[in-house]
Amino acid sequence: MKKISIALDGPAGSGKSTVAKLVAQKFDYIYIDTGAMYRAITLKALQQNVDLSNERQLVDLAEQSDIQLQYLWEDGQSILHTILDGLDVSEAIRSIEVTNNVSVVASVAGVRDAMVRLQQAMAQSGGVVMDGRDIGTVVLPNAELKIFLTASVEERGKRRWLELKQKGIDVDLAELIEQIKKRDFIDSNREVNPLRQAEDALLLDTTEMTLEAVVERIVNLAKEKGAVLK
Ligand code: DC
Repeated sequence: MKKISIALDGPAGSGKSTVAKLVAQKFDYIYIDTGAMYRAITLKALQQNVDLSNERQLVDLAEQSDIQLQYLWEDGQSILHTILDGLDVSEAIRSIEVTNNVSVVASVAGVRDAMVRLQQAMAQSGGVVMDGRDIGTVVLPNAELKIFLTASVEERGKRRWLELKQKGIDVDLAELIEQIKKRDFIDSNREVNPLRQAEDALLLDTTEMTLEAVVERIVNLAKEKGAVLK
């Protein structure tokens, strides 16, 4: 049975991870959250008080870290956990401090080299849905299906705001939108592997689309490329 690779790129808050998880479930594929890996390195740097402008130290840290993405069964669902040097950091990597610093760490060439190598090894046998910023352009240039997911910055801000609210975290929407803009700017303008739509990627603007419609569209495209539903 053919197992394809699906690359999902796009700016912060475009819904990549939610969509990627659901698409992966439909085909019984592995979902790889590459942002979680950059977040794990950022967490470690913050914990060790590494100066974030010291690129050498950040690269050493990335090269010496053991990052694993593991699936664990919880309440009848398989949930992705991020394991850093043997410790489960799935929650810690979502903190505001990590979120506000991760773009800087992810802009360091040597950190990216280390992460890209890991990501390519994880995707070696296909059957993956991988989300990030440079998946279609750099990590999996031969992916059978490449999607560039986007939405207006206001809509992305609103979605994040709702997501946080559901977790009981109250933040100012305008401030959240400003933070997303800032992250988009750094991610799109860095020298190494910036956020960019691959030439052969399909652009999907989800501003006016429901989650179900987005998933259905991608599932149909994947089926056209030979993916088989589970
Ligand atoms: O998708 P996310 O918000 O968890 O990503 C966290 C940060 O990592 C984001 O600022 C961009 C960066 N990133 C990246 O540069 N390349 C990737 N493949 C994934 C994430």
